Amino acid sequence: NEDQFKKVVSHAKEYGYIFPSSEIYDGLSAVYDYAQNGVELKKNIREYWWRSMVYMHQNIVGIDAAILMHPTTWKASGHVDAFNDPLIDNKDSKKRYRADVLIEDYAEKLYQKAQKEIAKAQKRFGDAFDEAEFVATNPRVVRYLAEQKEVLARMAKSLGNEDLTDVKALIEELGISDPDTGSKNWTDVKQFNLMFGTKLGASAESATDLYLRPETAQGIFVNFLNVQKTGRMKIPFGIAQTGKAFRNEIVARQFIFRMREFEQMEMQFFVRPGEEMKYYEYWKETRLKWHLALGMGEENYRFHDHEKLAHYANAAADIEFNFPFGFKELEGIHSRTDFDLKAHEEHSGKKLQYFDHEINKSYTPYVVETSIGLDRMFLAVLSHSLQEETLEDGSSRTVLKIPAILAPTKAAVLPLIKRDGLPEIAQSIIDDLSWDFNVLYDEKDAVGRRYRRADAAGTPYCITVDHQTKEDQTVTLRDRDTMEQTRVSIKDLSEKLRHTITF
Ligand code: GAP
Repeated sequence: NEDQFKKVVSHAKEYGYIFPSSEIYDGLSAVYDYAQNGVELKKNIREYWWRSMVYMHQNIVGIDAAILMHPTTWKASGHVDAFNDPLIDNKDSKKRYRADVLIEDYAEKLYQKAQKEIAKAQKRFGDAFDEAEFVATNPRVVRYLAEQKEVLARMAKSLGNEDLTDVKALIEELGISDPDTGSKNWTDVKQFNLMFGTKLGASAESATDLYLRPETAQGIFVNFLNVQKTGRMKIPFGIAQTGKAFRNEIVARQFIFRMREFEQMEMQFFVRPGEEMKYYEYWKETRLKWHLALGMGEENYRFHDHEKLAHYANAAADIEFNFPFGFKELEGIHSRTDFDLKAHEEHSGKKLQYFDHEINKSYTPYVVETSIGLDRMFLAVLSHSLQEETLEDGSSRTVLKIPAILAPTKAAVLPLIKRDGLPEIAQSIIDDLSWDFNVLYDEKDAVGRRYRRADAAGTPYCITVDHQTKEDQTVTLRDRDTMEQTRVSIKDLSEKLRHTITF
């Protein structure tokens, strides 16, 4: 809901996660900076992805290709001709929107209406509630879900036509209005290319037109043979990469969900032609497991199988997450066939083939890709983690329950008071822990307020040094989520932390 989303945005700023870019100049639309805590969370998400994709798969290696690439890359990949968004203007408000996003939002509202009915019935029937039965038989739910499906199918069909008048007709038929002003006075739908252009070279005459990469994937395709040969990789194998991508998106107040400069984490898996569907299913399942392992609730994820396929794909699905503004795409799994490698062969005149010793044959491999936006994953974690809790004594607390493994700061070390040698002991604990863990020292305010501050910043543990520490070398270890406090020996702290919060 909107309130929760607003809270996430302001919390992200107040607790040093995300600032608007160049804020002193009133910011730059859809561009953001990661602050002192944000940079750590982002790094930890990247690390969680890298370890599970690259280290945990013996047949996947990583690369880091350049953002700037030879301009023919984007001709070959189809981005120059087909990387467009369908845009529509409202004649009264003069605002510009993505036509497909307007329709998707309409469909999502139908889905939410169905969910509301389900939740109401669940409350009414309690343990006796059979959700599958209800979804299949309740006339309202059946109607909402059927309508949602139909709207998405019609959108996919109309976007597939060269002529986009059907897209406009659908928007008008559904009665979709300008989200800001309610006006229904729409222009025709037009395609708009999303790539940012730039120039290479010193003088205007000799300069070459370049693009900032709109996806990291192409850096992997053009290096396919280099990596295969130097790494002596045998099919099936994968190449993984994380890095910045740029798209001139038309956006409205979506915070870091849709940005103009963002980071992707992509992996291209090269397979024998004909085996792509097997690996497509494998990666769908494997990627969903990666998400579920973070413990952010199975009910917050769903698959959306694409009916309209991008120019390069023969099958595609999104893993959608339940953001505060509804279920939206978090990650894509695409079966890209041999489209990209074939296109690069054609445009470069170089063979990009693989000799398969097992079947004694050369071929252009097929590719299954997994592609997730790091910033979008960041938003999923942040919005899910921000919770308002009412405590037993009736008071409330704001707590950021970021999965401990991803948390920016692992522990706050707090001397109970600022004298009697307690700060010095706290400092020595920091010295012991800080090579392995990002920990911080906090001595300001009463200890209760410091606990609240650590809760709101998302720090999983507080380590409190008190007078007993001087006698028996123990401290209290307070858990952010349960608020339980246990007495732990200083010498056991490192092991205890390692157990729960390292990769
Ligand atoms: N190589 C395939 C590819 O780029 P995509 O569906 O266009 O596919 C993949 O993008 C993922 O990148 C998306 O699922 C999303 O998480 C992220 N992404 C795409 N555009 C984005 C944007 N403007 N801002 C933030 N993340 C974005």
